[in-house]
Amino acid sequence: HKQLTIGLFGFGVVGEGLYRVLQQTPSLKATIKCVCIKHPGKKRNAPAELFTTQKDALLFDKDINVIVEVIDDADAAFEIVSTALKNKKAVVSASKKMIAEHLTELLQLQQQTDMPFLCEAAACASIPVIRNLEEYYDNDLLHSIKAIINGSTNFILTKMFEDKLQFSEALLLAQQLGFAESNPALDVEGFDAVNKWSFLLTHAYGIVESPQNILFTGIQNIRLSDALIAKEKNNDIKLVAQAKKLGNGKVAAFVLPQFVPQEDHLAFVKNEYNGVVIESGFADKQFFYGKGAGSFPTASAVLSDISALRYDYKYEYKKLYHHIPAELTNDFYVRT
Ligand code: HSE
Repeated sequence: HKQLTIGLFGFGVVGEGLYRVLQQTPSLKATIKCVCIKHPGKKRNAPAELFTTQKDALLFDKDINVIVEVIDDADAAFEIVSTALKNKKAVVSASKKMIAEHLTELLQLQQQTDMPFLCEAAACASIPVIRNLEEYYDNDLLHSIKAIINGSTNFILTKMFEDKLQFSEALLLAQQLGFAESNPALDVEGFDAVNKWSFLLTHAYGIVESPQNILFTGIQNIRLSDALIAKEKNNDIKLVAQAKKLGNGKVAAFVLPQFVPQEDHLAFVKNEYNGVVIESGFADKQFFYGKGAGSFPTASAVLSDISALRYDYKYEYKKLYHHIPAELTNDFYVRT
């Protein structure tokens, strides 16, 4: 199969993870030719000749046929991805914020350039959720999805309600362990989850909706007293991303803290783990569970995209539903 020569942008938690993972998977025949970084002074556990600060050295290198982009800066990421696609390079990206903010443009770029753009690592890290949504379900038979897609908030809720930590202690721990965004408000206030949800909805239902138009709240207003009320009713509180097909080509979708019965699959998802429950025709109910953040779990998803590029895999985005704003029903608990 095809030889893949990679230009890598970013050598942080995910970039270095990918470098190590590729060293351990020689049969893939994918090699990193060059890594573009922002801060050349930093000490790195890789040969110095691998690194450059010149992005054009990667984007215009004739040998490089795959650009892997795992940087934090969404604007810089979009610039890299669009230049790479226009230069006929396949692209693998883990930049969830960038993807959420540029969904329409990314879809156009893929059509215009006919180049693969894969982003399995951008949501739920080790869980192959995008490939699954793309390939496994018939348009009309994907009844509903309920998911925990932000590890930091799930970690904080678990630590608060099970280990009785204060919110701020739990958040600090999530930051120290490396799950939280560099600006943790993105996790806590639900931005990270709704960003991921926006493009998961694209792969599930063909919905192209800016995250700003999707109803969401984070866990910023959750108190210990809410957890106690939940416990009384044998429930946990989880930040749940949900989509439900309503018929007439419409889908209700939102991200909100919810009561989750203790026997529900999502109640099993603790700490920084992610989980996805899908109900569909034929397959009935499925539960996917795994690490949604971290160096190797995220690198494993990048690796799966690189592997798929050996046979020029592209997303089809075949489904076409319309998103409608959620209606608040009595499924929701309102604190009085
Ligand atoms: N901050 C993110 C999370 C990292 O907590 O899920 C993985 O996307």
